[in-house]
Amino acid sequence: MQVIPQSGVLGAELRGLDLSRHDAAMRADLHQALLAYGYVFVRKQNLTPAMLCAFAQHWGELHSHPYMPGIDGYPEVIEIVKKETDVHTFGGQWHTDQMFTRTPAMGTLLYAIEVPPAGGDTMFGCLHTAYDGLSPAMRQMLAPLRTVNIYDKQRPRAAVMERQVVDKDVPAEAAVHPLVRPHQETGRPALYISHDRITRRIEGMSDAESRPLLDFLRQHSIRPEFTSRLRWEPGTLAFWDNRRVQHMAVNDYQGHRRVMHRVTVRGTDTTRPV
Ligand code: SIN
Repeated sequence: MQVIPQSGVLGAELRGLDLSRHDAAMRADLHQALLAYGYVFVRKQNLTPAMLCAFAQHWGELHSHPYMPGIDGYPEVIEIVKKETDVHTFGGQWHTDQMFTRTPAMGTLLYAIEVPPAGGDTMFGCLHTAYDGLSPAMRQMLAPLRTVNIYDKQRPRAAVMERQVVDKDVPAEAAVHPLVRPHQETGRPALYISHDRITRRIEGMSDAESRPLLDFLRQHSIRPEFTSRLRWEPGTLAFWDNRRVQHMAVNDYQGHRRVMHRVTVRGTDTTRPV
C-alpha cells in the first residue's frame, strides 16, 4: 500500500488496494492510515452496496440513519443524489456525522457512483489541529464544557434563540456531548462541533451566551491550514474518522448530477443524561 498525503494535516490517498479483495492485514494497514490521516481514499474501485457494507462492517455495527431511508435491500446504505435541477446539497455545511444522536458515527464511508465534470468536492477539517491551534487559556476554558445537539428541521435555530434556553428545556431527543473529546483510540483531543442547526448551544448557557463562542470555534476550525479537499472520480471510496474530522459537501456544480453511496459505522456513547 502506497500512502500519498493529501495536505499537511489530513487526508491521504491509498494506492495499490483492491477493496473487493480485502484481508485482515490490508484492513489493519488501512486503519493505521485512517488514524494517522483522519480520512483516506482509494480510487478506481468497483463496489456494490453489498461489498460496501461487508467492508464497512469490519469497523463496527452499521448505523441506519434515523431520518433517511436506505436503498432497497440495504437499509444502511444511503444514496445521496443531487439531480441537475436540485439546488440544495446534502451535507453542505460543516458537520460531523450524527452528532445529534447519543452514539454518533465513528466513521463514514462514501463511494462515488456519478460525479459532475468539475466541482462536487468534499472538504475535510482536522479537529485535532484546530484544537491545538487554540490558546492554552481557551483550551482550559473549553475543557469542562458540553454542547446540546439537536436534529430538527422543523425547529429552526431562531426559535431556540428566542427562548433563552436553560438546561431543563433541553428536549428529550437532544444529545449532549463534550466540546473537547479525546480520540477513543489515540487519546488526542479534538474539538467536537457541527453547524448551528445541530450544535445549538453550550449546556448550562443561554443561546445568546454560547453563540459567540461556538461561532468563533466554527470559524477557527475551518481555517485553511486545518483543511483539505477531495476531488471525486466515479469509483473513489473515502473513509473518514468522525472522531477527529469534520466535513462538508461543496455545492458548486449546478446543472449536473452527483450520486454517492454512504454507510456510517456506529461509534460509542459520549453523552450523559441531561
Ligand atoms: C455527507 O455529509 O456525509 C456527504 C458529503 C458529500 O456528499 O460530499
